[in-house]
Order: sequence, then structure tokens, then C-alpha cells
Amino acid sequence: MSNEKRPVYFNPWDPEFRANPYPHYGALADGPPKLIDLFGPVALVGRYADVTAVLRDHARFSSVQRMRSPEMRDEGAFRGAATMLFSDPPVHTRLRRVVAREFTPRRIRDLEPRIREIANGLLDKVERNGALEVMADVANALPVMVIAEMLGVPAEQYAMFKAWSDRIISGGNTIPGMPMPAEVKQSTDELRGYFAAEIENRRRNPGTDLVSALVAAHDDNEAMDADELLAFVVLLLLAGNETTTNLIGNGMLALGRNPEQMDLLRRNPELTARAIEEILRYDGPVQSTTRTSNVEVELGGTLIPAETGCFVILAAANRDPARFPDPDRFDITREPSDHVAFGEGIHFCIGAPLARLEGAIAIGETLRRFPKLRMKDPEAPLEYKGSYFLRGLAALPMALE
Ligand code: HEM
Repeated sequence: MSNEKRPVYFNPWDPEFRANPYPHYGALADGPPKLIDLFGPVALVGRYADVTAVLRDHARFSSVQRMRSPEMRDEGAFRGAATMLFSDPPVHTRLRRVVAREFTPRRIRDLEPRIREIANGLLDKVERNGALEVMADVANALPVMVIAEMLGVPAEQYAMFKAWSDRIISGGNTIPGMPMPAEVKQSTDELRGYFAAEIENRRRNPGTDLVSALVAAHDDNEAMDADELLAFVVLLLLAGNETTTNLIGNGMLALGRNPEQMDLLRRNPELTARAIEEILRYDGPVQSTTRTSNVEVELGGTLIPAETGCFVILAAANRDPARFPDPDRFDITREPSDHVAFGEGIHFCIGAPLARLEGAIAIGETLRRFPKLRMKDPEAPLEYKGSYFLRGLAALPMALE
């Protein structure tokens, strides 16, 4: 192999880059973090060692989003209120503590029978129709139905939540400095209006759901203010659905394109948990997260100036050959798999146990019920939607026979 460094191309606002960013990640693994100009100076962090170093160093790499304009604040899903995702300690510690106990692996295990029931209800319909489009029939519906039930709102309204969250997430494709499209703003207003009313309902009629728990935390011990309460509910709905949808979709695609791996999994369902980890490593739902340097920092040989936006590219780290041998090979027996698809450090995904369970049930039940499942044409071009940050398939038709 030549020692010549490959040129870097990185542009989350280019639809072609978004459709397949993986060929561009090799150049990031070649050397230290790169400083480039992308609507302003940014750092690209893609090597596994650098990504984990940034995520563990929350003192120097902040999660607080720098608002470039008042519009960003007034039109964003959280309207400038602090959320655990976009805050640093001590605010982060205070907010995360409020829901940490609702997401423990034990609490999540209790949901298993209900998740299995929802998944099989969706697959019953597939069986009746004799055709499977993974996204529309399973992946889009299951996570949003589950999180809706956890929030205590009717799962049947999932199509409405899904439409709102799809549009809000597509707001991530807006070029920095350009106004948010009107439909993004409208969906944000509708979603916030819906949950503002639900918060009032739950204040009068508390239940055992997450919204009631958040209202109690707000009212009883003032763990957060009213704006933070609403932002919290919106965060849980958004974070809890598109990501898991894409875990299921990306997973079925990887299995469909690697039929020997699909057969291996079908013959050995006890490999399901490991297969989910490999899907997360190989084609995780969150390509990149972001941080801003609080001070000037030396990282892996690059001097990053203070107040520089950093793309912390989880999906590139997960394909770093220095950490994962033969990283472009999809291998459900790969071990160990300490991928960073759920992040690392204090912001490590609070929903990871739930996402793993939903992914295992959706993929496991689909393979169990349709023993001849295969991809019609593994080479057929695919359409991607969402944003670069939350990237997933628009559709994935598969053959049942
Ligand atoms: C496969 C599915 C999922 C993936 C790949 C994923 C990925 C991530 C990642 C990478 C982070 C850290 C972001 C950062 O450090 O900047 C994160 C945080 C978070 N995730 Fe997930 N997530 C998934 C599912 C879920 C689910 C199901 C929920 C909730 C029901 C959820 C709720 C959250 C929350 C609230 C945070 C913020 C945690 C904090 O800042 O302390 N996620 N997720």
C-alpha cells in the first residue's frame, strides 16, 4: 500500500455523501484529526482513539450547542432549553438523574413481552399481505409505538408522531446559516403543542408513564424548569425512535446483502445479541455527534483552537482498521465489539438497553417467521432519508419466498 495520504472529502449536506459516507472514512483513519472549512472552521475526528478521547473529555469538549443566531434558538425543537444531550455537568448530571432509573436494563427487560407482541402484530400483517417492506411494515412503526407507550400516549397515533419526527430530523439537512424550512418549524410547533397539553393532562391525572414521572420531578423537587420539562419529552420521543428504526433497517440490509450471515443467524438465534452489536458497529444509526472545544486542545497530533466545532464521527471510528481488523467485513461472530455507536462517557446513550432489545426482537422475529426471507436484488440502488447525523433507508423491500 502506498504511504500517500488520501484526500479528505466530508460534506453532510451533499446528498451523495449522505447516501454512502463510508468510502470517505478511510482517509480520516489515515492520520491526525483534520481541520477543514465547512461553513466555518471545523475539526474532523474519525480515528477510534481520538473519538473516544474526545467523548471522555467532557471538560474540554462541550456538548452545549453554540447558537449562531436567535432563529436557531427560536425555531429548534428545544427552543433553547437545556436537554441532557446538549448540556455539560452540572446541568447534564441533574437532568440525566431524573430518568436514569426508568432506563435500567431491568426496567427495560420488563417491556419485553409487550415489545414482542407489538412486533408480532406488525409481522402478522406482513404475513397476510405476503410482502415485506422492512421500513414501512416494521422498522418505522415498532420504536415509535414503544416510546409512545412509555410516554403514556396512544400507540395508535404513532403515524402522527412519526411524521413530526421525520420532518424535524430532516431539519438537520438545512445548510448552516439558511432558514429552517416552514414544514420543519410547523412540525416542531405541533409536536411541542401536543406534549404541552399532555403535560397538563398528566399533572391532573398522573399515571405510571414517563411523562408523569417527569412532571412529578418538576413539580415535587423542582429538578427542572417548565421549558426543560417539555424539551425532555420532545428529546425522548425524537431520540427514541429514528435511531432504533435505522438499527432495524440497516441490520436487515446488512443481513440481506450477506446471506451467509443471515443463514448463520437463523440457524443460531443465540447469536442475535452479538449480531446487533455488529450491526451497530458496521452501519450504526448515528454517523456522527458533535462537540465544541472549550479551550485550545492538542488531539492526536492536531492543535484544535478554542471554540472549534468538532464532528466526532462514530461511524468512522467503528471502521477504524487500527481497532477493528478487516473493518468493512460484516461478521456477526466478531468479538469483542466495543464499538462507539451509542457514544461513550457521560452521554453514553441512555436508551441503549431499549434499542438493543427492540432490535433483537424485530430482527429475530422477522427471521424466525420468514425462513426464506431474502433481498430481491442486493445490488439495487437504495434511497436514504433523514440527515447525515441520523441516516437511514427510505425503503427496503425484501422477498418472503
Ligand atoms: C440504535 C438506537 C440508538 C442509537 C444508535 C443511539 C445513539 C446515541 C448516541 C451516539 C448518543 C450519545 C450522543 C453524544 O454523546 O453526543 C445517545 C444519547 C442519547 N440517547 Fe440514544 N441511541 C439509540 C436509541 C435511543 C433510544 C431508544 C432512546 C430513548 C428512549 C435514546 C435516548 C437517548 C438520550 C436521552 C441520549 C442523551 C444521553 C445523555 O446525553 O446523557 N436513544 N444515543
